[in-house]
Amino acid sequence: MKKVLIVYPLPLEPDFSEDITIVERNWLTLPDAEQLKSAFCNIEGIVALLTHKLDRSVLQYAPNLKVIANYAVGYNNIDIEYCNERGIIVTNTPDVLTGATAEVAMGLLLTIMRRFPEAAEILKAGAYKGWQPGLCLGTGLEGKIVGIIGAGRIGQRFARYISGFQPTILYYNRNRLPKEIERKLNLLYAPLEQIARQADVISIHTPLSPETVNLIDDQFLEKMKPGSYIVNTARGEVINEEALLKHIDKLGGVGLDVFTGEPVLNPNFKDHPKLFVLPHIGSAARESREKMAAICYRNVVAVLNGEPAITPVTS
Ligand code: DGY
Repeated sequence: MKKVLIVYPLPLEPDFSEDITIVERNWLTLPDAEQLKSAFCNIEGIVALLTHKLDRSVLQYAPNLKVIANYAVGYNNIDIEYCNERGIIVTNTPDVLTGATAEVAMGLLLTIMRRFPEAAEILKAGAYKGWQPGLCLGTGLEGKIVGIIGAGRIGQRFARYISGFQPTILYYNRNRLPKEIERKLNLLYAPLEQIARQADVISIHTPLSPETVNLIDDQFLEKMKPGSYIVNTARGEVINEEALLKHIDKLGGVGLDVFTGEPVLNPNFKDHPKLFVLPHIGSAARESREKMAAICYRNVVAVLNGEPAITPVTS
């Protein structure tokens, strides 16, 4: 019997064959070492959440582990180098959450540019006295210079969605995209510094890695145009939050779906008039979350049957 640990119930039930035993837990984060030891000792597969830091100190308790199916496209919570050493296959859930996450980036942007939270508050507080020419004047998105940082699947989808607003789109990516994609999406490759200086609107879509931690730092924020906007649906650690707070007053607004130290929000972020923060719901469309679960299960089954994983990040 092969044993698979599903660390937290997902929105789709697995339909594994009878030779796989499922152990399901309710762990949003990992328990202490004793519990881990007993839960991990004979498992061959784990379906994990992005909140589970699976590093050497934890994975040592799972000597028979063959596959980690991460219920996310990002896999910065997993020590890939160690998994490679051990021959543990790690998989993620690309493609199925691309649109959902780009939608949240678009939503955040419109929310902060057109001041939806403030407008809704006025109504809730009973302070709406009728239509007024200057009530909640925001900034329109049409024709603006947009900077996309990280032009993988989600960044490219965001470019497609925002293209209806007739923007000029500058993008930065570790590797420049092929010319056909640049042409198709009307993307202009630019260094980070140019994006900081010229963009009216910046959207972050880069994975979290040692190279992208604090990518949006004091110098970058210093160069950003007064009144410009920034949204982040990638990982909180890509923005240096101290630097963000230092420069936030000159910005038009900041929309975050992710932040450092989740779930504990920086106390200075609470009720900040320039900030609108969501609790990491980028992929939280039912359609995406069900497909993400299905991909995790298919990956586990494939690897445990000795077949190649469907969406490996290591092999
Ligand atoms: C991911 O898949 O990495 C997202 O952050 C989950 O919403």
